[in-house]
Amino acid sequence: MIVANWKMHGDKQSMAAWIEEVSNSINLKNINPCIFCPPTCYLEYAIRLINENGYHIEIGSQILNYCFEGESLTGGISSTMLKDLSVEYVLVGHSEQRNFLKENNNVISKKIEKALNDELSVIYCIGEDIDTKNKNETYLFLSKQLDVLGRLQSKHEDKLRSITVAYEPIWAIGSGLNAEKKYIEKTHEFIKNYINDDLGWSNLDIYPPVLYGGSVNLTNCEEIISSTAVDGLLIGGASLNSETFSKIYNLS
Ligand code: 13P
Repeated sequence: MIVANWKMHGDKQSMAAWIEEVSNSINLKNINPCIFCPPTCYLEYAIRLINENGYHIEIGSQILNYCFEGESLTGGISSTMLKDLSVEYVLVGHSEQRNFLKENNNVISKKIEKALNDELSVIYCIGEDIDTKNKNETYLFLSKQLDVLGRLQSKHEDKLRSITVAYEPIWAIGSGLNAEKKYIEKTHEFIKNYINDDLGWSNLDIYPPVLYGGSVNLTNCEEIISSTAVDGLLIGGASLNSETFSKIYNLS
């Protein structure tokens, strides 16, 4: 799975050009899903362009909101609304939302639950900040984030196959400094082992793919994806350019 996360960038014109250029450039024999996450206000526009032209791009939402019973949320987007738009994937737990919107694991767990109930595929983002890395506490930090998935398994066992994990070290996001291949490999192995053994998903025969994100570009993508522990990429800045993104997709 190769995911373009446009964050808060683009407009209708650049999006239409990007969708057409990427669709015409990606190798359709590549079985990796090619997923585009536009800004929320353009979701319907992007979906219409893709459907009208029969393009092989799938759509993900950057946003999903959740409020506890009795609360209301002006500006909120529910999983039911996303499903209604035929959105297939949703990013949950992105570090920018954890930080800027002060999202905690309680809310994130509810969001995942709602998304799974509405049959959306969840791309669950996790990753440590630089202080945690420097203190050598990355695995402890990630295990707490992964425990969110553990909370779901009793109620949603049948839907766990719709979960993908995206490992995005915060210090690598938008910094131009991707994590090194060895570091990515070891961390992905930790994530997979934790899900298999500590959460016990290997007993259920469920092995979620683990993507890497954080300063992926045309120069480093091949090395990163060559690791058997890396199942795909979540790309921010480098996804904005259709030629770069298509090349990364084709190399993956
Ligand atoms: P960059 O590729 O710009 O570092 O962003 C990564 C990211 O946050 C994707 O979700």
